[in-house]
Amino acid sequence: MKPKIKVLLIGGGGREHAIATSILESTNLDELKVFPGNAGFPEGILLNKDQINIFDEMQFSAFLKSNHIDLVVVGPEDPLVFGMADWCERAGVPCFGPSAYCAQIEGSKHFAKEMMQKANVPTATYAVFKDYDSAWSYCQKQSLPLVVKADGLAAGKGVTVAFQLTEVKQALEDIFITQKFGSSGEKVVIESFLEGEEASLFVLTDGEHYACLPAAQDHKRAFDGDLGPNTGGMGAYAPAPIVTAEIQKQIETNIIEPILGAFQKEGHPYKGLLYVGLMISPKGEANVVEFNCRFGDPETQCVLRLLNEDLLTLLYQSATKNLETRELRTKEATSAVVVLAAEGYPEAPKKGIPLEIPEPSGDVKVFHAGTKKQDTQIVSTGGRILGITSISKNLQDTMNQCYDYLARTDFKNTFYRKDIGRRAL
Ligand code: AMP
Ligand code: GLY
Repeated sequence: MKPKIKVLLIGGGGREHAIATSILESTNLDELKVFPGNAGFPEGILLNKDQINIFDEMQFSAFLKSNHIDLVVVGPEDPLVFGMADWCERAGVPCFGPSAYCAQIEGSKHFAKEMMQKANVPTATYAVFKDYDSAWSYCQKQSLPLVVKADGLAAGKGVTVAFQLTEVKQALEDIFITQKFGSSGEKVVIESFLEGEEASLFVLTDGEHYACLPAAQDHKRAFDGDLGPNTGGMGAYAPAPIVTAEIQKQIETNIIEPILGAFQKEGHPYKGLLYVGLMISPKGEANVVEFNCRFGDPETQCVLRLLNEDLLTLLYQSATKNLETRELRTKEATSAVVVLAAEGYPEAPKKGIPLEIPEPSGDVKVFHAGTKKQDTQIVSTGGRILGITSISKNLQDTMNQCYDYLARTDFKNTFYRKDIGRRAL
């Protein structure tokens, strides 16, 4: 372990605000720089476009060298899919995040399915098609419901769970005819429907060794009662009681170890964060719904509050192949996050909403997502604006603390779900 680490963090959402908050608490930190960040970050650590170019390998590498960066932490999936970790590798700078090859586990649903097949990981059965006619003719012979997925990155909008053939047809038309997802819709993955309860598990890995954070449960639909359109996530809590110790063991043996082994066998060890999206069947069997190549948002905002270890050390160990396979020390507590979103999210979120953000007290922490400073005023820039988090011995108190904070606010043109955590209560 280096004595003091200079870190560059890429990203500007609630996830990155939470990661930065943990990194800033580390006694192993020399300096943290962030691009692009948001209004929640201390101003002195933010970089602007004139200072760093994240779209050009030469300029990016030159920045790493001239600033003596010891570790790059990549928050979102896009830079990883485009090869930012490979740039770092070529520049000789450790990166927390997988190579472009490994990031295909999120960047291509077809690739992910093939890897799962090679590793014999439990998941839904599937078929892949490159054109409308063959996909449609296949679907008509299957029993419903069916899940239709655009192959590539689609900001969480490329998946349709179809209970009727008309919905299947519409989803295929969106992919192949109107080409709503551009090149991400060059292929479609059709999956059988998995029944059960979902959970997200974050696995830190150096390619060979791994350590799991407590499982979380996300709330993907926009409105109370799991109604409305799918979003990036409107709230989460952790630990998720559905992932019992026995199910956790099953996930490690049947999913994590085989998939990491499959990447090693390909000659591309997977390092960074492996996000395992799970469906736990009523019989207690864990199936993979999806893998992502980065921390989840908003789950990270609550999961990291449970960690009783130095996050920066773990990120550095993952990036430098020094992690130990072991249980992480976590707090005996329950944490949660409630997302405040702009009116119109996810389709057409209103932007530029002025925000007066009350100072949180007690165990409440507020992470910023789509915010920026306009002179002295904080305004919204995106769909998800803030993540209100808290932590306590029991989920009811945790939720009360989040909602008591929100009751003190007077945000215009925004909304949040009032039922985060209700299922576990
Ligand atoms: P994905 O982006 O693949 O995680 O899909 C988005 C959401 O669609 C998931 O969080 C699930 O709620 C749902 N989903 C995806 N695949 C399946 C499946 N095979 N069975 C049931 N639901 C699914
Ligand atoms: N909250 C879901 C995700 O980060 O993909």
